[in-house]
Amino acid sequence: MKRIALLFSLVLLILAQNLLANQPDSAYVFSYATTKNGGHNGLHYAWSVDRKNWNGIGPEFRFLFCDFGAWGSQKRMLTPFLFQDQQGTWHAIWSLNEQVGQFAHAATNDLFTWEPQSYPEVMHDGNVMLPEVSYQSDEQNYLITWLSNIDGVQKVFKTSTADFKSYSPTVEGTENDRINAREEVLIDGNKQLGVISKVSWPVIDGFIKFYELSKFREIQRSERLTNDAERFADLKDLKAEITVDPKNTKAISDLLIGVFFEDINYAADGGLYAELIQNRGFEYNPADTKFRDLNWNSKNAWSFTGSESGFSIDTLAPVHPKQKHFAVLNITNEGEALENEGFDGILLKAGDKYNFSVFAKGLTGAKGKLLVRLVDENGKVYAQASTKSINADWKKLELVLTANESIRNARLQIVPQFTGKVALDMISLFPQQTFKGRKNGLRPDLAQAIADLHPRFVRFPGGCVTHGDGLDNIYRWKNTIGPLESRKPDRNIWNYHQSMGLGYFEYFQFCEDIGAEPLPVIAAGVPCQNSSTGGHGQQCGIPMCDMDQYVQDILDLIEWANGDKNTKWGKLRAEAGHPEPFNLKYVGIGNEDLITDIFEERFTMIFNAIKEKYPEITVIGTVGPFSEGTDYRVGWEIATKLQVPMVDEHYYQPPGWYLSNQDFYDRYDRTKSKVYLGEYATHIPGRRLNMETALCDALHLINVERNADVVSMTSYAPLLAKHGHTQWNPDLIYFNNSEVFLTTDYYVQKLFGQNSGDEYLASLIKLSDGNENLKKRVASSVVFDRESGDYILKLANLLPVQINSTINLADLPVIEGDAELITLQGEVTDEKAKPVTSKFLVSSDFEIEVPAYSLTVIRLKSVR
Ligand code: AHR
Repeated sequence: MKRIALLFSLVLLILAQNLLANQPDSAYVFSYATTKNGGHNGLHYAWSVDRKNWNGIGPEFRFLFCDFGAWGSQKRMLTPFLFQDQQGTWHAIWSLNEQVGQFAHAATNDLFTWEPQSYPEVMHDGNVMLPEVSYQSDEQNYLITWLSNIDGVQKVFKTSTADFKSYSPTVEGTENDRINAREEVLIDGNKQLGVISKVSWPVIDGFIKFYELSKFREIQRSERLTNDAERFADLKDLKAEITVDPKNTKAISDLLIGVFFEDINYAADGGLYAELIQNRGFEYNPADTKFRDLNWNSKNAWSFTGSESGFSIDTLAPVHPKQKHFAVLNITNEGEALENEGFDGILLKAGDKYNFSVFAKGLTGAKGKLLVRLVDENGKVYAQASTKSINADWKKLELVLTANESIRNARLQIVPQFTGKVALDMISLFPQQTFKGRKNGLRPDLAQAIADLHPRFVRFPGGCVTHGDGLDNIYRWKNTIGPLESRKPDRNIWNYHQSMGLGYFEYFQFCEDIGAEPLPVIAAGVPCQNSSTGGHGQQCGIPMCDMDQYVQDILDLIEWANGDKNTKWGKLRAEAGHPEPFNLKYVGIGNEDLITDIFEERFTMIFNAIKEKYPEITVIGTVGPFSEGTDYRVGWEIATKLQVPMVDEHYYQPPGWYLSNQDFYDRYDRTKSKVYLGEYATHIPGRRLNMETALCDALHLINVERNADVVSMTSYAPLLAKHGHTQWNPDLIYFNNSEVFLTTDYYVQKLFGQNSGDEYLASLIKLSDGNENLKKRVASSVVFDRESGDYILKLANLLPVQINSTINLADLPVIEGDAELITLQGEVTDEKAKPVTSKFLVSSDFEIEVPAYSLTVIRLKSVR
């Protein structure tokens, strides 16, 4: 791999030297965007030495992408205008859409490495149509003018700025203010409108090389294991000598494998959270969904067997002001019932007990009991019992139902035993069988599948759920604790509803139950950069006047988790059933945010406040959604400047990326922030998981283990997905109401989670064939696990042939005899492969056949 990169640089060098022989001193660059693809294609360049004949790059290669607003309708770059200031910095400004009174700005020194974008608001309720700029050198100010349609009349507006951070008030201008220096040129036979700038030749040379490098990396990324049978058609079994170097060791993180739980794909309500009633609080709302689906409302999942007018929703005098909707039944004939369909039906297991509860209030004098039944679609009863009589005030009624038979799709019925009006809210049916028997707990099979990964930490509650769709949707932990009826449900950014039944207490409790560190992630005072509500994307942060309270909420979280029961917030935790502190050590601030001034200001404020009050807490910062680009680069600059202890990296990559970037972390500076690789996965077309994706994950984790002195934590993403409700693929664990489906990539996580260590030992693989393409498909790692006293060897073979390996353990104090051998093996497209465990005999040198397309783990007992 290194050789290919070297070769490529050599080619570039030769190319550059050829050009150096007769280059012009200067030439012209033409910058433009097209209206293709709704204006989403970003900024393109062409160059010319004579200003007449233009050479397009790409064609239409994107040198800058607009990151404003939601995916799909937003992220448009309209009429960009590129210019250079007197200091030599280039600026691009562009229009965003036809709705907002904002435009975009980004700066660069080389025309391909861009500084963070900003989206200044220059006009309220206006239509920014066409930014144009002129640079007034005498005042050192940039004048920005644009056209806007006001009541159908096109007018000129203008503002000015010295630094693209603060702007003079917008005023109306005249036609004379417009300096629209755009020109039309012909590129590849097509007319394009853009801006021509004269530049020195190295500038053009630079962005051409950038383009060539990008193309080369695309080729690397497109490499697939699925082509290997053909690529290596003549390949015979290989031999390998693997030598462990016991003298070359380093301490590594023992927190390396964790999990990232996000409420996506119905992971919480209808998933891990064991509640069986959907929309129990009648709080579903059209605003939960992106397109404000009117059918998604308080009555969702509910039906009434009586007349239509017999079931209504009210908000007057609710059980709790945080959940103001409740149902009102007007029973005209005894026997009429309110029904809930559950989440895709209600699963009942014969003999199991279910706790039912409801808040009920008799209206206009109605009194009597509620008959509660679990029935199938034909009305067959699987369990039933009656509550005590309702009151004229809200009263919580509880009973236990025992299922007399198993059924997958039961329904809950509430049958008032009287006529008249009754108000009902917070209708809950909770299995008594939860993970570790916790009240308000988790589905045991799913929770166990997570526990089996032996995760050292759990990151929650997101992901994008954390920073939310717009400011109002930022996840607030305080809304998720306390009695269920007092929690504040919210829209889920993935277009459904969060009841918050699975709240911070439950997350922390789960972590404790599985021996994992809790890692709550809190928004950095900015919502998701892809926000669709508010039309502003991330560039609107929490107003600075509200930031003190926001920071205080984060400090309160630490007190809630760690304070003793005499503290204000620690007391609430104790009252909720956990008198002992949760011993929180890590807090994530931000989730792959767009790194802007707005982000930096708020992140810095939060970071400094935590550092000052709770220096023992490790704050984990964020460096954007990708493994390169502006957010990644500037995110790291901020982290380095502030000396943030750890940063959260995210990247979803195709197989070729993992094959070609095995030294990604070898290149990291050991003195800077540590890395938490918070989200990653191998993506292939169709986004399925199979041995190809699993082996690429394994290869990456082997490379990460070697670098676990800089990468402290990792978590695959996302964790859970419910069949029929999946917004994102791939996911580690799929499920329906009764089954759990574990993926090939799940098994890789499990093998690493159950076989991690705290010391890394260097090892060397000598393959019988030195071909780079073969070598990069074979990897090993050796760790020592102090707790078990085991040496653990992992071998990934991504080749279509067996590798007959000799392992030389040198002087490792291994006990000769039985060792444990675990193999995950299958064809590259195999989606069903599972690890197989066996025993085999080892001595200080031993041989092992490493099958094609496999991950092998060997656990060796030692006397250490
Ligand atoms: O894991 C799914 C999503 O991917 C997360 O919510 C987000 O952080 C990332 O973009």
